[in-house]
Amino acid sequence: MKVLITGANGFVGHYLVSKLLEKNFFVIATGKGECRLPFLDINNFTYRSLDFTNKEQIQSIVAQTLPDVIVHAGAIGSPDFCELNKKSAFEVNVGGTENIAKAAKSINAFVVFVSTDFIFSGTKMKYHEEDEAAPVNYYGETKMLAENIIQQYCENFTIVRTILVYGKPLSGRGNILTVVKDKLLKGEHYNVFEDQMRTPTYVEDLAAAIVTIIQKKAKGIYHIGGTDLLSPYQMACKVAEYLKLDASLLIPVTRDSFTQPALRPLLTGFDISKAKRALDFMPISFEEGLRKTFS
Ligand SMILES: NC(=O)c1ccc[n+]([C@@H]2O[C@H](COP(=O)([O-])OP(=O)(O)OC[C@H]3O[C@@H](n4cnc5c(N)ncnc54)[C@H](OP(=O)(O)O)[C@@H]3O)[C@@H](O)[C@H]2O)c1
Repeated sequence: MKVLITGANGFVGHYLVSKLLEKNFFVIATGKGECRLPFLDINNFTYRSLDFTNKEQIQSIVAQTLPDVIVHAGAIGSPDFCELNKKSAFEVNVGGTENIAKAAKSINAFVVFVSTDFIFSGTKMKYHEEDEAAPVNYYGETKMLAENIIQQYCENFTIVRTILVYGKPLSGRGNILTVVKDKLLKGEHYNVFEDQMRTPTYVEDLAAAIVTIIQKKAKGIYHIGGTDLLSPYQMACKVAEYLKLDASLLIPVTRDSFTQPALRPLLTGFDISKAKRALDFMPISFEEGLRKTFS
């Protein structure tokens, strides 16, 4: 089976490509610019430069490669960047998704769209797949609009919503755990939110869940997250404890005491019972994820 991935150079994309290759899928990885993945010498791996805001480019790559499945993981994922650059955020997260959806429809490919807990308003500890979307920032709004586009254009689709993904960065930017480690190692203070609750997702669990969705052609919407409900501050303290670094450098802040360009939803934990039932999804604990991240 041939799987085309957007955002393959990104944090989630890299793990997903790796997991698909492990399972012997034929992978067409795409990303903006050059390949930053270490798989070029693997037979069932190919890389194509693709800016998915370019409709002609995506249509031509899809027509040439004829993937059975398209995983759309590429996006502008920074809420603050999206808030300050609404035009680019719309072009990439909404316009880009429309281009992907139309190209997928033209060859009747199965689409897996990676979305976020930020489509929710943040008033519930455990969100269900059917709960109403009501984003509090522009990033969340773009991802909600993109979800609507996928549902409107594609007959065969899955929307995978995930939440605060962490793990060892293989290339590119770090994530909350590695940023905390870097700050504490440098002896710098770090502001971390104590009034937001998430069910953080270990990146390999997410990649494995997407592979299962592809294998089972499990359609619909799935919430993929971890089992522990934690605030970023609690996560940061666990990093400090695990690495024996100075936790007193961590400063607990709240949405009111520390403002950012984009408002964050407060409570967005996920109910993952549907994924457990339908995908046999068994995420590891945060403690185990912490060990794997720093192993
Ligand atoms: N990480 C999380 O905590 C989290 C949580 C919930 C949902 N998600 C969702 O998960 C998905 C993957 O996130 P991630 O953490 O892997 O993000 P990431 O590391 O920032 O990767 C996103 C990738 O998308 C690529 N991209 C952006 N605009 C593009 C364009 N116009 N054409 C082609 N590629 C483009 C980026 O390319 P460049 O590197 O070249 O800029 C980047 O490699 C996103 O859809 C995000 O919304 C992530």
